[in-house]
Amino acid sequence: MAPDTARDAAGTPVPRLEVRNLRRVFDGRAVVDDVSLRVMPGQVTCLLGPSGCGKSTTLRMIAGVEMQDAGEIHVDGRLICDTTFRVPPERRNIGLMFQDFALFPHLSVAENVAFGLKGSKAEKRARVEQLLGEVGLNRFIESYPHELSGGEQQRVALSRALAPRPGIMLMDEPFSGLDNRLRDEIRDLTLDVLKKEGAAVLLVTHEPEEAMRMADEIALMRDGRIVQQGAPYNIYNAPIDRAAVGFFSDINVIKGKVQGALTDTPFGQFLAPGVPDGQEVEIVIRPQHLKIDFDRGGRGPDPTPQDGVPARGVVQRARFMGSESLVEFRMDFDGSILKVTVPNVFLPSPGKALWLTIRRDRCFVFPAEA
Ligand SMILES: Nc1ncnc2c1ncn2[C@@H]1O[C@H](COP(=O)(O)OP(=O)(O)O)[C@@H](O)[C@H]1O
Ligand SMILES: [Mg+2]
Repeated sequence: MAPDTARDAAGTPVPRLEVRNLRRVFDGRAVVDDVSLRVMPGQVTCLLGPSGCGKSTTLRMIAGVEMQDAGEIHVDGRLICDTTFRVPPERRNIGLMFQDFALFPHLSVAENVAFGLKGSKAEKRARVEQLLGEVGLNRFIESYPHELSGGEQQRVALSRALAPRPGIMLMDEPFSGLDNRLRDEIRDLTLDVLKKEGAAVLLVTHEPEEAMRMADEIALMRDGRIVQQGAPYNIYNAPIDRAAVGFFSDINVIKGKVQGALTDTPFGQFLAPGVPDGQEVEIVIRPQHLKIDFDRGGRGPDPTPQDGVPARGVVQRARFMGSESLVEFRMDFDGSILKVTVPNVFLPSPGKALWLTIRRDRCFVFPAEA
């Protein structure tokens, strides 16, 4: 943990940024509703959710350019904003970076990065050189923005935001203006620089891959609320509901009804611990966690405890996707479609009958949604 972490009277580290029960209402509708978050110095938290779920509004309240209707914001354990008291944006020691970052076109790269800096000329120059070194742009120090590529401009914008050593960096979809190949590279570089600088970072994105790549912690947001919060691994592997699974990947859903903490399906029985008798459930499974097996004269593979009972389906289509193939089956048992991805090339002809099994350890059982 960064050495400049604040501590409370008992010596416990205090979050650099803490948001408590933040709320914002527009036209009678809460677009941010009871949002609470903590970010430690040197940590990256991603606020992840679909467009319109309230991510930018949350960020704007923390930046101080939007007022909340309820809730508090604390920095290093100090209240900086509630509904009656408010430290102005420029005194919050917060760095900002947005998708349409604008560099000053008439200023050189060095002048852009030095823009918000205080101190002597030599001190400013040293800081500018340090940051441009970190982002690998020292050779452009006297260039002008129009002489740089989009990715290079992005790195200048990052340097400018970090130059005054903000304790907190707020980033709103900062990579969405960049093309795919470039984006991965810039994400990695940005993460390295952010970690080196030790700020607490709150990064907003609607892309799960970006959140998984960058975040120490993901806060999954939906309709103004944080529905789940945790390390990327936990969010992906222990999702809270069907929509949380579906936000990260394609899903298949198999329906069942619970009897004695078990549900019967064409794929055999699934455990449904704690679910009352008669409750409808959905077994949610990602396409990469179904297994395909061959037909043996009208029979599939033998049932196993790990994979349950096989069910037969007929290939509707098969597509090569590069690192994997996607095969869609129409299932004999009810005519529904199940999607399966397999690594490498697997392109069975439409009309071919094959057998599917479901990995028991990779499926999620949720109460059925209305
Ligand atoms: N100033 C505003 N006035 C009215 N509605 C707004 C305003 N700003 C945002 N909203 C609405 O609040 C919701 C959340 O917006 P936003 O925070 O920008 O979402 P996100 O960043 O997750 O896409 C949207 O429905 C948006 O239309
Ligand atoms: Mg937004």
